[in-house]
Amino acid sequence: MHHRAMIESVTGRTPERKKSRIPAKLDWWQSTTGAILAGFIVFHMLFTSTILMGPAVFDWVVKQSEGAFLFGEAMPVMTLVVTLFIFTVFIGHAFLAMRKFPASYRQLLVFWQHRKMMKHSDTSLWMVQYITGFALFFLGGAHLIVILSSYDSISAVNAATRFTAGGMGLFYLILLVAMVSHGAIGVYRLVVKWVPFDHATPKARRAAVAQVKRTVLGVFVGLGLMAFLADLAYMQYGKSLAKNSAHLISFESK
Ligand code: HEM
Repeated sequence: MHHRAMIESVTGRTPERKKSRIPAKLDWWQSTTGAILAGFIVFHMLFTSTILMGPAVFDWVVKQSEGAFLFGEAMPVMTLVVTLFIFTVFIGHAFLAMRKFPASYRQLLVFWQHRKMMKHSDTSLWMVQYITGFALFFLGGAHLIVILSSYDSISAVNAATRFTAGGMGLFYLILLVAMVSHGAIGVYRLVVKWVPFDHATPKARRAAVAQVKRTVLGVFVGLGLMAFLADLAYMQYGKSLAKNSAHLISFESK
């Protein structure tokens, strides 16, 4: 094994004079981890949006996702397990995606000129993917750390307080925009990459691809808008909590 890797590192070929299959495998893993995260994000947007039906509904959903319907009582450790799993997939996905980042000014220049000359919209989408992906490293990572450190106290009151008193409203908004753009483009690219479009003519194929693009964008933007409204609901709820507690403090101090 050691010798095989050494031969490949020097010649760029396996001892059988074949190209390594590892890059194809890494690509498969990048797509698979991306698909898991995209599926998770869709459920996540539905989950956070339950605040639109009121704090009690949100708290009920949290309890159920902590297994109350299975064990008769909420087990927050389930949130911990899911968060650790998602964090691992998130790190794996970011690590694999890094291979495709331009590694030097020259590579970035080549890409930039190529994008300009070809006027190829998918190449421009890749640029958005690169920028939002980079932002998600930090924003998504920070959010996951916050959730890991408070997995057993997820509630509407705590979420809303993080939005307002915790000063994270703008943070969540930027995270949402980056997440929706990255998820939508990612899922569209996944479909184009892995689904065979065996259409009779290139024109029919292009029409089918454009249809996929519209559908994926529609679903993500629709869910994203709902999540945005949810963000506003958290802000409003957080403000009303602050007003009520200020009232209590002034009442108590009288
Ligand atoms: C299993 C892992 C995760 C859990 C348990 C979780 C849980 C939560 C909770 C409880 C909130 C409400 C606000 C709060 O309490 O602070 C929230 C908000 C949010 N989360 Fe997560 N989250 C997870 C992973 C992620 C990931 C990976 C992303 C994107 C990269 C993400 C993006 C967001 C966004 C954008 C919001 C703001 C609300 C919205 O616009 O939907 N979350 N999350």
